[in-house]
Formats: sequence, C-alpha cells, structure tokens
Amino acid sequence: MKIDIDNITMIYPSGKKALQDITVNFESPGFIGILGPNGAGKTTLMKLLIAGLIPTKGEILLDGKPLLSQETQLKAQLGYLPQSFGLYDELTVWQFLDYMAALKGVKGRKYIDEALERTSLTEQKKVRIRNLSGGQRQRVGIAQALLGNPQLIILDEPTVGLDPEERIKFRNIFSEMAQNKIVLLSTHIVEDVQAVCNRVLVIYGGLILYDGSPSVLISDAAEHVGTYIAQAGDPVSEGCRVVSKVNVSNGIRCRIVAEKLPKFAEIAEPTLEDAYLYCIHKEGRE
Ligand SMILES: Nc1ncnc2c1ncn2[C@@H]1O[C@H](COP(=O)(O)OP(=O)(O)OP(=O)(O)O)[C@@H](O)[C@H]1O
Ligand SMILES: [Mg+2]
Repeated sequence: MKIDIDNITMIYPSGKKALQDITVNFESPGFIGILGPNGAGKTTLMKLLIAGLIPTKGEILLDGKPLLSQETQLKAQLGYLPQSFGLYDELTVWQFLDYMAALKGVKGRKYIDEALERTSLTEQKKVRIRNLSGGQRQRVGIAQALLGNPQLIILDEPTVGLDPEERIKFRNIFSEMAQNKIVLLSTHIVEDVQAVCNRVLVIYGGLILYDGSPSVLISDAAEHVGTYIAQAGDPVSEGCRVVSKVNVSNGIRCRIVAEKLPKFAEIAEPTLEDAYLYCIHKEGRE
C-alpha cells in the first residue's frame, strides 16, 4: 500500500488553517509516529486520511488513485481509532466488536476472536463496556481498529490516560501489528514513538517540521541540550527552553534545549523528547 499526500491545505469553515501545504508519502511496511503539541494538526491529518474531511487544496492518492474516489476500498483496508471514541456502554465487549465488524463488512467470528486475543481482552469478552477500566476501554478501541486485519491502521492518541504499565502493553500490541502495514500513531508521549516507530513526523502549526528516523532527529539535537544547577528564582536564560527541573541537594537541576547553549550549561546527550522539543523550539517557534 502507498499513500501520497500531495500539497494538502486544510482550512476549516471557521477560517482556521489547520494544515498548510503538506506533502508526505507513506508506504508499507511503515510505523509512523506523529508528534506535535495540542492544535498542531495531527487529528486533522488523520481525518483527511480516512476521507472524513475533504481538503481545501491538494490531493491524497491511495495506491496512485484519488482517495476520495475509492472510499469503499479504503474502508475495507482501514482500521481507525479516533481521538474521542464513544463506546456503547450497555453492550458487552463481544457484542460491540460484532457490531463494529458488521459496520465494516468484516465477516467471521475468527476476526473478533483474533482482535480480542491480540488486545488481551478474551477474558473480558462478556463484560459490559460500562464495567471496564479506562485502559480496557482503550483496548476495546484498538481491538475494533484491528478487526479484519486492515492494511492501514490509524490511531489517534491511543495511549492517552493510560498508566505506564498499560502503555507498555499497548506498545507490544503496536509492534506486533506493524508487519506489512502502514500504521500511523499520533501522540504527545514521545516514549511511545521511541519504542515502536521507525519514522517520526513532527507537526507544529499545520506544518511538518521533521520527517525521518527518530535517530536522525536525535542527532540533529546534539550540542543543543544541556543541564545546569540553578537556584530557586533564577531566571531562565533567553533563548532556552526548560525541558525538566529536578530538585537536587545543591539547587535545581535544569535540563534545557537551545539553539546556542549558555556557557554555564553542560552539554547532555539528547533523548528523543529533547530532540522533539528542540525541533519545535528552534527557529523561534516556541
Ligand atoms: N472542526 C473544526 N473547526 C474549526 N477548527 C478546528 C476544527 N477542528 C480542529 N480545528 C482547529 O485546527 C487546528 C488543528 O487541530 P487538530 O485537532 O488537528 O490538532 P491536534 O494536533 O490533533 O491537537 P490535539 O493534540 O489537541 O489533539 C487547531 O487550531 C484546532 O483548533
Ligand atoms: Mg488531536
């Protein structure tokens, strides 16, 4: 499968420009993490890809043909977890998946059993959705996205609100499902991307600031990440963005990203999180 997003601009009826001249290609197999702060345009991009929105300008091609002319083919190949996902509280997990399978035209119990198995929900299949924990409900959302073994899986913030243990379980599910597919995952949680994605897009203000491997993003931030000990009330140096602050015995250890580190800062090895923040911060973007 191949998706070409060609020079897409999305302006909502309110006049808000959510994406601006975006050009990007996805090809299977690919596990792509989309990172960006609130309002960056991640959900908008995903909605365009599922033909849930029509772009103001530009075109999306699915295997070389316009996406909007092949909605049926798209639907047959798509698994989508929206950011806000209403579940039918009174249904059991199995009933809900059976219902979603019917909507998607996926036939056969085996697909439901498989989705339950992959999301470790087999034991809960007879439990009503209203009686599930937040993490289990998220897993039901993932399970419905996996129904019928789709070739394009789009997950909009699947790990939001999950505890660390539950997030690790999710990452395992994600890494198992990437083979021969295109998986797009949007998140604020950089660790999720680091664990499973071989490609990362950084979106900010409707623009793609970075598209490439996580390791190159990290190497771009080399010498732009530093630490120093500050005292309470010390101002942050101009041009620096604080990534974290930790209280230590002799003050506060600050971790910063900056185009030019202040002389008193000690250079630190960048993490993907530092690199993401540096990418957004550079060129005065934040
Ligand atoms: N239906 C809409 N009508 C008008 N503006 C919208 C609509 N949906 C989104 N926007 C605006 O478009 C921009 C991009 O929104 P989008 O939901 O794509 O961001 P996001 O990256 O998914 O953010 P978040 O991390 O908060 O989910 C924001 O400024 C948002 O306010
Ligand atoms: Mg969103």
